[in-house]
Amino acid sequence: MQTASVHGMWSSRLMFIMAATGSAVGLGNIWRFPYITSDNGGGAFVLVYLACILLVGLPILFSEIIIGRRGRMSPINSLRELARDSGASRAWMGLGWMGVIAGFLILSFYSVVAGWTLHYAWLYFKQLFLGAEAIADPGATFGALLANPGELIFWHGVFMVMTVSVVALGVEKGLERAVSILMPMLFVLLLVLLGYAMTTGHFGEAVGFLFKPDWSSVNGGMIVTAMGQAFFTLSLGMCAIMAYGAYLPSDVNIPRVGVAVAATDTSVALIAGLAIFPIAISFGIDPEGGGAGFIFTSLPLAFNEMTWGIAYGMAFFLLLSVAAWTSSISLLEPPTAYFVESSNLSRRTIALIIAALTWAMGLASVFSLNIWSEVTIGGKDIMSAIEYVAADIMLPVGGLLIAIFAGWVLSNRITRTELDENMPSWAYSTWLWITRVFTPLMILVVIGGILGVF
Ligand code: TRP
Repeated sequence: MQTASVHGMWSSRLMFIMAATGSAVGLGNIWRFPYITSDNGGGAFVLVYLACILLVGLPILFSEIIIGRRGRMSPINSLRELARDSGASRAWMGLGWMGVIAGFLILSFYSVVAGWTLHYAWLYFKQLFLGAEAIADPGATFGALLANPGELIFWHGVFMVMTVSVVALGVEKGLERAVSILMPMLFVLLLVLLGYAMTTGHFGEAVGFLFKPDWSSVNGGMIVTAMGQAFFTLSLGMCAIMAYGAYLPSDVNIPRVGVAVAATDTSVALIAGLAIFPIAISFGIDPEGGGAGFIFTSLPLAFNEMTWGIAYGMAFFLLLSVAAWTSSISLLEPPTAYFVESSNLSRRTIALIIAALTWAMGLASVFSLNIWSEVTIGGKDIMSAIEYVAADIMLPVGGLLIAIFAGWVLSNRITRTELDENMPSWAYSTWLWITRVFTPLMILVVIGGILGVF
């Protein structure tokens, strides 16, 4: 059993929690969660999502950390080695490769959306310090951004440079330093916004929208979306947390850090909802059916009217950019670690090459917003199609295989030692059987639903 990774190690338990929470908390919480909740009718969707976090997300989160820490290498090589030691097929490394492809696709559109947030932070910065005009018609401003490929490509590029410059520096000097500065900043910004939302007088309505279930909106499509979101928001199913697990010191208790990460991530999504919907409602914006532009078209109206609104606006979009940044580094780390192990190139060169390829792939998402907006794949525009295939299909399939690997391929001796040797038997058996049977079945039912088997 290895005690250290060649890539470096987190210097403390808190560092892992910050890095994994940094990966988990991102556009998924603050951009995607509010708008898909809005599109899926609110309360009932939130409950299904919470159930998915608990019953599917948490067991897989533990599994990824266990596999990563036991293997101490990039996901692809950890899976290969552990499979070999367990007498299982080398083909398990294919799961690592699938993760690399899913991560590549996710980062390609993720960085385009993160580019929008950078652009908005810049718009507010200009208003605050350079005397630029307020955003008079947010819908038109957002529309104009999407219609302008040059602008989108520029910000998408800036964001990719930010991401690669952290990953190129490695675990201690790059990832750890970035999250230890950015995560505290993120929490302060989030609390400021929540504080403001509480003063709008519409907090109660937002609570009702988020937590009062309308069961008539539950259907197969909604459950697929809720589970996809559970995977996406916890960064599960593509071995990103597995890669971070490889740098986790051996004496850290996995269930405890796993629960801390999942609980923080879920709280941030709910707090973001509670910070965003009251502001939208107080400006007469219907919280339902907002679409992917929801925060970009609704919040600027509020920021125009609020005292200090421009500063809040800048704080909000800065928050979102920071959250996206600590997530995107976890999408780039697994393939980078793999090629560091299996080539003679430096980490810097490898990170640059992968980022450049991902940036180029992102152009497909950029153009799907304007010059290729007529092109559809299976009824979706290109960007939505990439998001759907990667987030709603590849992540659950990856999660299914991760659960099977941790539950059935690794020996009980290994998983028990990694989880917590002093764990009561009933607790271990509960995790084991949920991971072996329950979680895979839930995922199969949902995937079966997508494929129209049921
Ligand atoms: N969890 C991040 C978010 O909510 C996105 C993300 C980072 C991610 N790494 C991932 C999603 C790995 C899936 C897999 O914004």
